[in-house]
Amino acid sequence: MFASDFLSIRDFTPQQIRHLLDLAMHIKAMPQAYSRSLRGKTMALIFEKPSLRTRVSFDVGIQQLGGFSVYLSPAEINLGKREGVYDVAKNLERMVQGIMIRTFAHRIVEDMAAFASIPIINGLTDYSHPCQAMADYMTIFEAKGRLSGLKLAYVGDGNNVAHSLMFAGAQLGVHVWVATPDGYEPDHAAREWATRRAAETGGSCTITNDPVAAVEDADVIYTDVWASMGQESEAALRKKIFLPYQVNGKLFAQAKPDTIFMHCLPAHRGDEVTDEVIDSPRSFVFPEAENRLHAQKAIMLELMRDESVEHEHGVL
Ligand code: CP
Ligand code: NVA
Repeated sequence: MFASDFLSIRDFTPQQIRHLLDLAMHIKAMPQAYSRSLRGKTMALIFEKPSLRTRVSFDVGIQQLGGFSVYLSPAEINLGKREGVYDVAKNLERMVQGIMIRTFAHRIVEDMAAFASIPIINGLTDYSHPCQAMADYMTIFEAKGRLSGLKLAYVGDGNNVAHSLMFAGAQLGVHVWVATPDGYEPDHAAREWATRRAAETGGSCTITNDPVAAVEDADVIYTDVWASMGQESEAALRKKIFLPYQVNGKLFAQAKPDTIFMHCLPAHRGDEVTDEVIDSPRSFVFPEAENRLHAQKAIMLELMRDESVEHEHGVL
């Protein structure tokens, strides 16, 4: 058995993370070979926050694997108000074969996984976004031909996307730098875990308040919105605080001639990134978005297929 849930990149070994990336690339290269792999299986997609990429990639992904999905909006479940997590888990486990959930508190996905007998996939919490990080490192591998030893500079808010990039980078031997304004640094425990795991894989994890130091010699510059979903009331204040961390032509030029730009999207153009950078030939934001589909398919396949099959494609 590969694992019973996909809640955090931290729950896996470096080999398992590489295996998932390898599988995602194989699925991307040969989608037809997997068109019946999850035949007749249904995923419930629970969204307590908006989504474009996560919803479409899971919905289309399960269909391309031969299965079905049922989309549950905030209005339908009203988790914790109309019905508690335990009751939702105990109902859904009798009707579907897997649940993807996007919510606020990370505790909710952990509780869902503890209560439900079927696989639970974290489709983003306030704490982490592991599916995104899988697609991101897959994109970096495609662009650079390797992962170990690369430098990724994340510039912006040290929250969910940054945490998952730190965790996955540590698993993959990447040097991850995170540059945030004072007070917006990543969670201390996240940093400690990434530092420990990176020491075993040849990577590293560095937190700084200096965006220029972070991007120096970086192979990848990555940013995310300054006000995440649920933080809309802080947007005006954050805009002032984060302005020195904008990824614009000047900051991008501090890196290398072949540095690539990435963003999980949606982007607030003119805030965390300028058009000049996101629309440049070195921007990989759309291949990165596409890879959500292939990465999600690999995750669903590993968690939901009837028998674990060894894949030795050996790309990574
Ligand atoms: N990157 C990402 O998760 O996009 P959505 O919020 O549109 O799903
Ligand atoms: N940090 C962002 C990521 C969106 C994919 C948010 O949580 O809104």
